[in-house]
Amino acid sequence: MSNLDQRQYAPAFQRNCHPILAVLEQELPRQGLVLEIASGTGEHAAFFAQQLPHLGWLPSDQSQPQLKSIAAWRHHTDLANFYEPIAVDVGTPNWSEAVVQALEHDGFADSEVIAIVNINMIHISPWQTTEGLMAGAARLLPPQGLLYVYGPFIQQDQPTALSNLAFDQSLRSRNPAWGIRQLDDVEKVAAENGLTLQRTVAMPANNLSVIWRRASES
Ligand SMILES: C[S@@+](CC[C@H](N)C(=O)[O-])C[C@H]1O[C@@H](n2cnc3c(N)ncnc32)[C@H](O)[C@@H]1O
Repeated sequence: MSNLDQRQYAPAFQRNCHPILAVLEQELPRQGLVLEIASGTGEHAAFFAQQLPHLGWLPSDQSQPQLKSIAAWRHHTDLANFYEPIAVDVGTPNWSEAVVQALEHDGFADSEVIAIVNINMIHISPWQTTEGLMAGAARLLPPQGLLYVYGPFIQQDQPTALSNLAFDQSLRSRNPAWGIRQLDDVEKVAAENGLTLQRTVAMPANNLSVIWRRASES
């Protein structure tokens, strides 16, 4: 089977790719390497690498079938700044060190990950995954490095949309360890790791973009 045959498609991509791009264009630096955690099908990686040609885009996922789909999208788009996906499970300790090793192995020894992008993972994985994402992002990012997270959240000061309540129930029935997280809880674990919340942006379909920066070293 050729690489092309292994491309997968997620319907949500078409709905969220342009709104997410608009936020990333405001937040990402003008150059450097962006690590995407949980790239899934690889459609976002292909789209962002094309739309943000001044940046290097390094996709990753924990799942072998997803890594094959990402590689197939890379093959299909044939962009110099869309790098070979790497296997990263942010639920494992020291994943950030594994990323640094993979960068060295792939000839990126001098490259620094200046931003991490994570779309629609936090609610479809156990809470330990969020804890691992924050801890590893804080180790990997340079001071002022950016962590961008997209997805649905529950906010204390805002009513939760009925569609998100139903989505939360369906997630928990599929896996009791999944579920839409309280933004306050995610903020707390981010802060514990030295990541400072910069802003949240309301997105279509009751999603949020949440942007953190690693605190500067004193
Ligand atoms: C709903 S999909 C979202 C994929 C893609 N970001 C998107 O928006 O289309 C969730 C993804 O999270 C990945 N994932 C779940 N737990 C993970 C972990 N511990 N480390 C890395 N990726 C993980 C899954 O393999 C899957 O690709």
